[in-house]
Amino acid sequence: MKIAVLPGDGIGTEIVAEAVKVLNALGERFELEFADVGGAAYEKHGHPLPAATLKLAQDADAVLFGAVGDWKYDKLERALRPEQAILGLRKGLGLFANFRPAILYPELAAASTLKPEVVSGLDLLIVRELTGDIYFGLPRGRRAAPDGPFAGQPEAFDTMRYSKPEIERIAHVAFLAARKRRKRVTSVDKANVLETFQFWKDVITEVHAQYRDVELEHMYVDNAAMQLVRAPKNFDVIVTGNMFGDILSDEAAMLTGSIGMLPSASLNERNQGLYEPSHGSAPDIAGKGVANPLATILSAAMLLRYSLNRAQQADRIEAAVKRVLADGLRTPDIWSEGTQMVGTKEMGDAVVAAL
Ligand code: IPM
Ligand code: MG
Repeated sequence: MKIAVLPGDGIGTEIVAEAVKVLNALGERFELEFADVGGAAYEKHGHPLPAATLKLAQDADAVLFGAVGDWKYDKLERALRPEQAILGLRKGLGLFANFRPAILYPELAAASTLKPEVVSGLDLLIVRELTGDIYFGLPRGRRAAPDGPFAGQPEAFDTMRYSKPEIERIAHVAFLAARKRRKRVTSVDKANVLETFQFWKDVITEVHAQYRDVELEHMYVDNAAMQLVRAPKNFDVIVTGNMFGDILSDEAAMLTGSIGMLPSASLNERNQGLYEPSHGSAPDIAGKGVANPLATILSAAMLLRYSLNRAQQADRIEAAVKRVLADGLRTPDIWSEGTQMVGTKEMGDAVVAAL
């Protein structure tokens, strides 16, 4: 089993090192191959996603990804910015299905900015379509406005579009995921305004005919943003497009109080996947040894479950994480009165010990 390990920028190297430690402690030999990605790759090879890195990822059974990005690359032309690496990997591997769970660990209820009764027991899953929508839609660019009241003036434009098969395949993923959970899907759209999302709603409704045991509701994205903070426990599975999924998944992550706890998985049709923490590269705390490695460690557990078919090993890791939390160990992002503050390495070591 071959795993491509791409630590990336900022805290990426520190947190991935801990996840690798945990993988190596399982008592099984995985073939781990490291490569540069993001700003780190740009510095060394002049491109955030060098051909060799993409090839390594494509040839692997799964990719363990840290994080990319740093403010210092904001001035680069778009094609060379670190974020292009993650977009290129999604496209290059066809990773259309993004799973972003938001789970509140009972031990961390105090970390949420919402009232405990609103969030305690929260367990929702965002299924975000990841290779279409306005993120990748062509044409896009800058030009002189061809018409309208500002004709001739400089303008920029992007294209929001979804094809029927793209919506169908993500719908199947969401309904199947709901079957293994509480059997409720909320499809989030903007059908009241956008053609693309009226089509989205129609196609989701059509696919639903094959999943009569699953309850389906449709919700406009603005309302969904509101319901997520009003009554988040009403959600089970949320399925939505690339853009809305990007925004709502950050909102959902924060309900739990620590984005440092949340893993994510991006899968293609062959269950080849990329696994990464939901948070970013956090350049402000990079190199200080204080980043929370648990989201990355839990991402490694998802990797074992979904791409390597090793559910038992995944269970072991998840149990070990619960154990260290129950023991009161906390990185600064989830620390509260009466718990023990530890750094990145100590947290990783504690998970290995709990294993
Ligand atoms: C995410 C990130 C990315 C996205 C960026 C870094 C391109 O925000 O994974 O949610 O917008 O998809
Ligand atoms: Mg995002």
